[in-house]
Amino acid sequence: MYHNPTKAKMRTPSQLSSRWIAMLCLVTILCSLFTLGVAVKEHDFKKCHQSGFCKRNRAYADNAIAQGSSWEAPYKIPSELAEFKDGQFHATILKTIDNQGTTVKLPLTVSFLKSGTARVTVDEQRRIEKDIELRNNSPARKERYNEAEKWAIVGGLTVDTDAKVASEGKAGMRIQYGPNFSFEADIKYEPYSIEFKRDGVSQLKLNDRGLMNMEHWRPKIEKPAPEENEAKEGGEGEKKEEEPVEVAPTEDESTWWEETFGGNTDSKPRGPESVALDITFFGYEHVYGIPEHTGPMSLKETRGGEGNHAEPYRLYNSDVFEYILDSPMTLYGAIPLMQAQRKDSTVGVFWLNAAETWIDITKAKESKNPLSLGSGAKTNTHTHWISEAGLMDVFVFLGPTPHDITKNYGELTGTTAMPQEFSIGYHQCRWNYISDDDVKEVDRKMDRYKIPYDVIWLDIEYTDDRKYFTWDYDMFKDPMSMGQHLDVHGRKLVVIIDPHIKNAGSYPVSDELKSKGLAVKNKEGKDFDGWCWPGSSLWVDCFNPAAIEWWKTLFTYDRFKGTMENTWIWNDMNEPSVFNGPEVTMPKDNIHHEGWEHRDVHNLNGLTFHNATFHALVSRKKGEERRPFILTRSFYAGSQRLGAMWTGDNQASWEYLGAATAMVLNQGISGFPFAGADVGGFFGNPEPDLQSRWFQAGAFYPFFRGHAHIDARRREPFMLSEPHRSIVTAALRLRYALLPAWYTAFYQANQDGSPIVRPMYWTHPSQESGFGIDDQFFVGSTGLLVKPVVEKDKVTQDIFIPDDEVYYDYFTYNKVSTSKGKQVTVQAPLETIPILMRGGHIFPRRDIPRRSAQLMRFDDYTLVVVLGKNGKAEGELYVDDGESFDYEKGQYIHRAFKLDGSVLTSTDAEGRDIKSIKEGDWLKRMNDVAVDKIIVVGAPSSWANKKEVQLESEGQKSTVKLEYFKADSSRGAFAVLGRVGAKIGADWSIDLS
Ligand code: NOJ
Repeated sequence: MYHNPTKAKMRTPSQLSSRWIAMLCLVTILCSLFTLGVAVKEHDFKKCHQSGFCKRNRAYADNAIAQGSSWEAPYKIPSELAEFKDGQFHATILKTIDNQGTTVKLPLTVSFLKSGTARVTVDEQRRIEKDIELRNNSPARKERYNEAEKWAIVGGLTVDTDAKVASEGKAGMRIQYGPNFSFEADIKYEPYSIEFKRDGVSQLKLNDRGLMNMEHWRPKIEKPAPEENEAKEGGEGEKKEEEPVEVAPTEDESTWWEETFGGNTDSKPRGPESVALDITFFGYEHVYGIPEHTGPMSLKETRGGEGNHAEPYRLYNSDVFEYILDSPMTLYGAIPLMQAQRKDSTVGVFWLNAAETWIDITKAKESKNPLSLGSGAKTNTHTHWISEAGLMDVFVFLGPTPHDITKNYGELTGTTAMPQEFSIGYHQCRWNYISDDDVKEVDRKMDRYKIPYDVIWLDIEYTDDRKYFTWDYDMFKDPMSMGQHLDVHGRKLVVIIDPHIKNAGSYPVSDELKSKGLAVKNKEGKDFDGWCWPGSSLWVDCFNPAAIEWWKTLFTYDRFKGTMENTWIWNDMNEPSVFNGPEVTMPKDNIHHEGWEHRDVHNLNGLTFHNATFHALVSRKKGEERRPFILTRSFYAGSQRLGAMWTGDNQASWEYLGAATAMVLNQGISGFPFAGADVGGFFGNPEPDLQSRWFQAGAFYPFFRGHAHIDARRREPFMLSEPHRSIVTAALRLRYALLPAWYTAFYQANQDGSPIVRPMYWTHPSQESGFGIDDQFFVGSTGLLVKPVVEKDKVTQDIFIPDDEVYYDYFTYNKVSTSKGKQVTVQAPLETIPILMRGGHIFPRRDIPRRSAQLMRFDDYTLVVVLGKNGKAEGELYVDDGESFDYEKGQYIHRAFKLDGSVLTSTDAEGRDIKSIKEGDWLKRMNDVAVDKIIVVGAPSSWANKKEVQLESEGQKSTVKLEYFKADSSRGAFAVLGRVGAKIGADWSIDLS
């Protein structure tokens, strides 16, 4: 039904009779017709008005806003129920639910955390006490889902007991917290709201417009004949204080108890239970984040109007077939983190909720003084967060820099795992390499054409009848010999393992899944059976620790035959994709471990599967402690700890190439930077120019993989003819030369959550004209500013310059002449990637081209020093063995390079005494690795007559040759020092005076 699920077993042409070839052609034609016919299944996915709780909350907002100042938000805190103790504010919010003043209790906790983050959590008393009735004999849990934290959060929750009350009274309480008590939470009681300030200035406010709505539990009142109704009420006795009875007659009840979409009916055993809250960012015009969507990184307004979306951004992980561009429609993953940017200030919120979520955004010019409208008027961004179920749980970050938000969010949800070094090289994938011979042949051809790559991938057709953990032995006769063949050049194999398990007899994996009771259940508590690649399938419930334990057993080398140490994993379809399910996923009333409804946990599902595979790979073999590599399609906050993601099924068109940059950048600022898009485009056949430009762009995606749909023509780089083959090869070699810089950027991401490719607002938060730019970026802290060409026939590129530093062209050393906030036009013929080097940085490279990352591990380094306007530069290098966890025991090299005036030094970046570290095998071998060459771009003319300089390292002095190249009319001056010969891990200095 989706993605051509018909099993099209591929055979080599020699094995096919002409009849088969004819058949295959027919099938291919039919498939492509089918593909065209079903393109853009937008209507398969809900719009807000088709999602009951979204529609209700939008209507609630419209009503409140229409009433203006006469709107009385029904959420109040009785001051006598509020207290502040040990860094936490506790109170009960009372929600008035009828005209008689009946209230519902909603316990509120505001925790002030040591990191300076505040957490605001609201639950529902009655459901905490499990004092509700479920309809339809549902086996579901009664509480609001309170375990999102268990999956998403790994730290940073220590409460700051120094936080203090600044003032309190009947109307509210003000708490001061954060660095030097510069943060403040102003909690108002009637109506309930919390305004957050930094240094006395308002930053953002929860429930600013009074749109908070927590749909409390209520019994379903069948609309009976009036007499019957009265008799029932009488029978039940007096109305209790908290018996939630009636609601304003104006409320739309039509979707409270049941909802049907696309022929599927959701039984909603707990009735309406959505949580919604408005959050206003004061003076902030740009908001970013909440991936995964297409469209600009600076999020658009969603309530219509020219250039705006008419729908809220949706987060409901889905397998969207042929997704469209510039859309708030949901995609495969969800990270409910939003950050807001204004000049010199960044703040953010993290909405910890795993249920279906919609976010409306509107922006409004506002000014305290109406006469100052115009230049002085500031823009407030209003957001409205709406989730179907669960707690209201919001983390508030007050910055003030983008880096602070990244760090604080990283402390909570974890940072990017240190990757296997090979995994930041190039990955060659397609659906499908058809046999082990095919794989070997591709490998040989990459070598023949001297094209570096690290990993070749097998999509679903390697299996026997799409039963994971098996091989189609007709085509993959000897998987081990394939693995060993790849290993000769340090290369790896990634095989796909999806979460749907073929529901078939005599398939041990499915037999065990059923007999152990580890599959996701339907609303009756029976194993849920749905349709996916293998046909009828079951889904492993990775919320269940026992399922994780079982999953681990499937990956051991003796059980998953044909795999070896260089086999890694691809987790796809984990939204989960269910071809015959509502919106191509699981029914919301399915039941997971411990009775949570799928509704409660949907957006976490992909993470739990990825997590189970992560644990399985860590425990593949006793004593084998290597970092897993797993690519996931679906993700949630926290998935960055487990591997890489890619942006799913894009298309081979210039528009999709263009769209990918903003998507990858948005992942980076949302805490999951190990991201990439299918290079070449998944659907369709890229023309050679497009493919070349895509490789040039892909060489700057943190995750760099070429992939293609089963119907697409073969398009490995060596298939191209000249000049395209050389262009693609050059892009790949550039990626490989810069691997040390990429690995260092991954290390920074691992340390504090920094994006690996960094947009302008993130690196230059003072430069407002850069806030809307999402088609260029810096690579880590290298100062490399890249703007891939994403338009057909374009041979120049306009690059925005965010500051007053000096910039040079990466390849020509031409000096860029423009000023801060302006664009510069650089030449970018097809063979050129527009890359500038910012003055003031030093970055590492490895310049000898090799076949794979592993083969470069002990190569010498080149350092590129780009002098800043002040004649100075600095940079860093992080390197470890690239595969084990030994770096956690100090087995790594971390250098800080500095050219300060006239001396260039290399010192330990953490001030460690490197000699005191007991060297393991890898560190020992690194003693033979040196700095070979140093290129100084922007070298001063005072060096013009220098022929040599003095190097001092490990108590020894030596002479290093210096060659000086004068500036010409366009090119900057530069000097080349070499051979340097200083050990990469040792302290050294070079006197350039
Ligand atoms: C969907 C994935 O997005 C795509 O990359 C993959 O090739 C197919 N599933 C088949 O496994």
